[in-house]
Amino acid sequence: MSPEVIDQIAASVVLAALVGGVSLRRRHRLHAAIMCSCFAADLALVLRIEVRAGALAQAAEAAFAPRTLLFWHVLVALLLLALYVVALWLGYRMYTGRRTPWHLRVAVAFFACRLFVFVTSFFLG
Ligand code: HEM
Repeated sequence: MSPEVIDQIAASVVLAALVGGVSLRRRHRLHAAIMCSCFAADLALVLRIEVRAGALAQAAEAAFAPRTLLFWHVLVALLLLALYVVALWLGYRMYTGRRTPWHLRVAVAFFACRLFVFVTSFFLG
């Protein structure tokens, strides 16, 4: 099995775990543990792609090739990273009893970006 296919399978498993984590949102500790694990797994996946295929060099290349699929993929992936941090932070606030409608709003944007990055990765592999 090629490394690209392994990466796609790993990305699919993380996406499924994210959906599972949201469906378990009422079980706060479990929800938090799953979402934090998905963050760690996604970071590990980016690191693996960096080692295997020079993700940073590709990102730099994308910056010089605006409006290509790679450009949008990298741009949304960077946005996704920021949304991850914000969603985790707002999730922690919810967990500690400070409810906010922004956790849900950020989660919706997060999933839109996660799906975009996931789908476009198939066309770039
Ligand atoms: C990528 C990270 C995360 C995403 C996408 C996410 C997504 C969601 C979504 C969609 C909901 C439902 C919101 C609603 O119905 O208003 C929710 C609820 C919640 N999340 Fe997260 N979450 C994430 C991380 C976390 C983390 C790290 C924590 C805790 C440290 C957390 C704690 C909570 C709590 C306490 C609720 C309220 C559940 C309830 O209604 O009883 N979330 N989350």
